[in-house]
Amino acid sequence: MPSIQENISLKPFNTFGIEVKAKYFVDIQSETELESLLKNPMIQEENLLILGGGSNVLFTKDFMGLVIKISIPGINVTDDGDEAIVTAGAGVVWNDFVQFCVQAQLAGVENLSLIPGTVGASPVQNIGAYGVELKDVFHSCRAYAIETGRSRVFQYEDCQFGYRDSIFKNELKGAYIITSVSFRLNKHAKINSQYGAIQAELQHRGITRPTIAAISQVVSDIRVSKLPDPATIGNAGSFFKNPIVPAAQLHDIASRYPGVIYYPVGKTHFKLAAGWLIESCGFKGIVEGQTGTWKNQALVLVNHGDATGEEVYSFSEKIIDTVCQKFGITLEREVNIL
Ligand code: FAD
Ligand code: EPU
Repeated sequence: MPSIQENISLKPFNTFGIEVKAKYFVDIQSETELESLLKNPMIQEENLLILGGGSNVLFTKDFMGLVIKISIPGINVTDDGDEAIVTAGAGVVWNDFVQFCVQAQLAGVENLSLIPGTVGASPVQNIGAYGVELKDVFHSCRAYAIETGRSRVFQYEDCQFGYRDSIFKNELKGAYIITSVSFRLNKHAKINSQYGAIQAELQHRGITRPTIAAISQVVSDIRVSKLPDPATIGNAGSFFKNPIVPAAQLHDIASRYPGVIYYPVGKTHFKLAAGWLIESCGFKGIVEGQTGTWKNQALVLVNHGDATGEEVYSFSEKIIDTVCQKFGITLEREVNIL
């Protein structure tokens, strides 16, 4: 039985660096440990929180229950003709997994370089960046039902992936613990350099035929230039989702604010750059108490030192209200509020 600790500070376990405590805390290193834990009566009695790297959560208070941190290691590759199925333990650091694939010349995840967090959390919000989403390479994942302790394999169709969305955020929220994820990767690199910022950077570097290693490096460098490093400035990446609106609403906004940044989503809808909306309300780089928005990316809320989760949350409310008054759009939080 894995040892359950009491009254543990969660500050090292959330990238916002918020100082809160967990009543109980357990670190899970294997499926066997998890199976044993799921038989403990505490599982049915306590509130539970599954935690990976804590890079998409905002704690607003102490967690009065059991935090289950998933640290299951391991990467395994199975040959499948022109492709390979790579299975990684849920506790593997996402970028370590990406770098493993890049070095093994297995293509598909290089555009997702340097996203913080763990492999196990990657299907939860269908992580995405620079023209690729997790769903594009997802094969399946293995997960344990908290209620029954039984394992199940989720195939692609089961997961209901959407933009920063999956069944694990909706119908099955908090119901399953993912223990490993399998990815279908390509032995022959199909470079995806459509994203404007990647193209510009490749051109700047004089790279005309990029390798997956080059894409990984370029994406990593772009990210470092835009986003604060959680090791020095607490944050959880984009705090809000980019809103998706119907064409009529976009045209109305664009007629009043011609600079609005948007991208088509299918034939009838458009995704607006929330960072632009927030910046247009005068919030970019502002400091409010111990919180604020990042100087290079208004969509990222930061902890300048000792911010409380409540302080960051109230600031996010202020942003939502202001953006709504100006543009008639209600921003939706991407970060999980606890
Ligand atoms: P956590 O924050 O620990 O958990 C997130 C959610 O998943 C919680 O609801 C948790 O309960 C659940 N969960 C975690 N592990 C499991 C598991 N094993 N089984 C079941 N449920 C689980 N995201 C993007 O999509 N694209 C980006 O480009 C991006 N950039 C970022 C940049 C920075 C600087 C930061 C700090 C964050 C960024 N994020 C980005 C957000 C974050 O990295 C991702 O959401 C990541 O997948 C979270 O992983 P985690 O292990 O830290 O999850
Ligand atoms: N912009 C502004 N002002 C700002 C921020 C952005 O005008 O303060 C403009 C940019 O100039 C650009 C556009 O908005 O024209 C989009 O900005 P960016 O390329 O930085 O991407 P984003 O839409 O802000 C999304 C994801 C990121 C992901 C990047 C790259 C969401 C919510 N965020 O950000 O994901 O890394 O694209 O693909 O979809 C995350 O989810 O945590 C995250 C960081």
